[in-house]
Amino acid sequence: MITCGIVGATGLVGETMIKVLQDRSFPSVSFHPFASDRSEGKIVLYRNIEYPVEILRPEAINKGMILFGATSANIAKNWVPMCIEAGALVIDNSSAYRMDPDVLLAVPEINGHLITGKESIIANPNCSTIQLVAALNPLAQLGRIEWVSISTYQAVSGAGTPALEELKKQQDGTLPANTADIIHENIITSIGRPDEGGYCGEEIKLMSETCKIMGMDFPIFAATARVPVRTGHTEAVVVKFDKPVQSDEAAGLLAEAPGVTVSESGSSPLIVEGTDIVIVDRIRNNPGAPSVLQFWVLADNLRKGAALNAVQIAEAVIAKRNI
Ligand SMILES: NC(=O)c1ccc[n+]([C@@H]2O[C@H](COP(=O)([O-])OP(=O)(O)OC[C@H]3O[C@@H](n4cnc5c(N)ncnc54)[C@H](OP(=O)(O)O)[C@@H]3O)[C@@H](O)[C@H]2O)c1
Repeated sequence: MITCGIVGATGLVGETMIKVLQDRSFPSVSFHPFASDRSEGKIVLYRNIEYPVEILRPEAINKGMILFGATSANIAKNWVPMCIEAGALVIDNSSAYRMDPDVLLAVPEINGHLITGKESIIANPNCSTIQLVAALNPLAQLGRIEWVSISTYQAVSGAGTPALEELKKQQDGTLPANTADIIHENIITSIGRPDEGGYCGEEIKLMSETCKIMGMDFPIFAATARVPVRTGHTEAVVVKFDKPVQSDEAAGLLAEAPGVTVSESGSSPLIVEGTDIVIVDRIRNNPGAPSVLQFWVLADNLRKGAALNAVQIAEAVIAKRNI
């Protein structure tokens, strides 16, 4: 008997989580949508049953309950400890616990073998990280990765409901914004304010989370940008190995990787939107640099980049617990 809940059920990730749980026939017997007091009583439909949105209170948490976190990091820090204390398993989408050395940061296809079933919290990586490691990890069989360079073209839905609403108002012309904030027909080259080293938060997440998940250590040169695409992150990746590599061998390894689809034709965010696949596209060798591979990686940031990966983590825990 599994009781599950989504904290942040009314947000973009929470709503996608509901779809993914339904699509995958997640074996829950009882469901609780939680959100802020702004949403209390609002109706959420799950498996054709109407559930009123609740405020997360200690009495709503049961031992063994699986709680999917889909709130911001600041909010997560308020509710996660209480739920762990009450004996729930939290699978959190926020950045709050990802780099905690005691917390597993999981992409089941890559480090799912580390899931024991006894965890009280497992962190879900950043959306841009999940699709990067989905492509990078199989390629580590080609040779030792010396460094990775990644440039991202990230969809607006990656910044949550308010960002999508703002995009719509900018498209309608009903929201005049400061030039730096305009995303409609524009590109924002710093996702969040840069730190003293010049890197923005999205770049730091890619650089730190990737190595933690893969259990390897190599430099990552990340440049992240927000583009006026609704859903679906696009990444241009360059990987330097310690020896010459072949693009067809790389394609062969990726074709075998679960959840990955290899393409040669040129993909777009519209192709991945609403799907569960990570597309690795146009894998190529530069003849002048035989130990370097270049390719594109695309995925739906709300599905494999968030909700799907979290549900896959829960499924792996359930399998370990023999529920
Ligand atoms: N969007 C993506 O592609 C993506 C990908 C990977 C990870 N993430 C991470 O996932 C998390 C959620 O992102 P999102 O895009 O879904 O954001 P969002 O659309 O802005 O949704 C935020 C959710 O948090 C809820 N919330 C706010 N304050 C709360 C409180 N005090 N108690 C309980 N719930 C509260 C909101 O409820 P109300 O509706 O009541 O305000 C809403 O359901 C973030 O940490 C984000 O970084 C997002």
